[in-house]
Amino acid sequence: MTEMILVIGANGQIGTELVTTLRAKYGHSQVVASDLHPPKNAGSNGPFEQASVTDAAAVRAIFEKYKPTQVYLLAAILSAAGEQKPKLAWDLNMNGLLNVLDLAVEFKVAKVFWPSSIAVFGPNSPKQNTPQYCVMDPNSVYGFSKLAGERWCEYYFEKYGLDVRSIRYPGLIGWKAAPGGGTTDYAVHIFHEALAKGEYQSFLSADTELPMMHMDDAIRATVSLMEAPAKSLTIRSSYNLAGVSFTPEQLNEEIKKHIPDFKLSYSDNDPRQAIADSWPKSIDDSQAQKDWGWKAEFDLPKLVEDMLLNLRKIK
Ligand SMILES: NC(=O)c1ccc[n+]([C@@H]2O[C@H](COP(=O)([O-])OP(=O)(O)OC[C@H]3O[C@@H](n4cnc5c(N)ncnc54)[C@H](O)[C@@H]3O)[C@@H](O)[C@H]2O)c1
Repeated sequence: MTEMILVIGANGQIGTELVTTLRAKYGHSQVVASDLHPPKNAGSNGPFEQASVTDAAAVRAIFEKYKPTQVYLLAAILSAAGEQKPKLAWDLNMNGLLNVLDLAVEFKVAKVFWPSSIAVFGPNSPKQNTPQYCVMDPNSVYGFSKLAGERWCEYYFEKYGLDVRSIRYPGLIGWKAAPGGGTTDYAVHIFHEALAKGEYQSFLSADTELPMMHMDDAIRATVSLMEAPAKSLTIRSSYNLAGVSFTPEQLNEEIKKHIPDFKLSYSDNDPRQAIADSWPKSIDDSQAQKDWGWKAEFDLPKLVEDMLLNLRKIK
C-alpha cells in the first residue's frame, strides 16, 4: 500500500524532525505537513496545509484532499504554556484530538499517532520507576488533558476499531528546533546559552530529577511503534517510555566536561517548579520493551556530546 501521511502540528519541536524523517522514508510528496502557522522553511520540500486542528471543516478538507493512510497529531499546548491559557489548552488538546479521531474513523485511516506525556502522572503517582498503571492525579491542565486524551484513544480503539498508537514522551531534547513551552525546556535552552554566553539560569532547582530523552530516540520510538504489528500492541491508551533521567546539576556537571568555565545558576519561584515536582523522576517502560522492542540509545554523556557537537556546527 502506498502511504499518504498527514502530520498536524508539523512546525513544532517534534514535527520539524518527524516530517524530515518520514519524508526520507516514504518520499517527500507522501508526507503532508500541516500547522496553524505557515512553515518556517517556506514549505520546504513537500506539501503543506495551513489550518487549525480545532476547525473540523478545515481538517476535513485536508482529509478529503489527501486521503491519508496515517495521521500524526502533534498540535497541542504544552505544560507551562497551558497554565497561562488553561481553557485554550483544554480546547486545543481535547477538541483537536476528537476532530482527528472522528475524521480518522470516517476516512478509514489505517493508523493514528497521538503523543501523551509523563504529565499524566501527578503528586500521588510513584516517583521512581513510575509504572504503566498506578494512581494518576495530574494537576496541570496539560496533564489532565493528556490523561483524558489517552482514555479517548483507547475508547476509539475499542468502540470503532481505530488503530491509535501513543507514547507518553518524557522531556525531549533536540538541537534542530526550539521547544514549545514545556516544563523540561530548560534542558534544551541550557545548551544554546552554554555555547552563546557560557552561563545559564535554570528555572528548575538543582536537584529536580525528571525523565528526559534525546529527540533521535523519540523519533525512532515513534516510527518503531507505528511500524509494529498491531497484534503485538497491548496498550491502546499510551505507552510509558524511558530515556535518561537527570537533574539540572547533573546536566551542569556533564556540560562542564566540554565547557569547563560554564556557570549554571538557579532562579527561585518559577511556576514550572511546581509542575516538575508533581512529575515522575524515572519511568518503567518494560511494556514498550516487551511489545515493540524499545531500547533507548542515548545516555547523559552521549546526549550532551551530541547536542554540543551539532549546535556548534550550526551556530
Ligand atoms: N516536546 C516535548 O518535550 C514533549 C513531551 C511530551 C509530549 N509532547 C507532545 O508532543 C506533541 C508535540 O510537541 P512539540 O514539543 O512538538 O510541541 P510544539 O509546541 O513545539 O509544537 C506544536 C505545534 O502545533 C502547532 N499548533 C498549535 N495550535 C495549533 C492548532 N490549533 N492547529 C494546528 N496546529 C497548531 C504549533 O504552531 C506548533 O508548531 C504535543 O502533543 C506534546 O504535548 C511533547
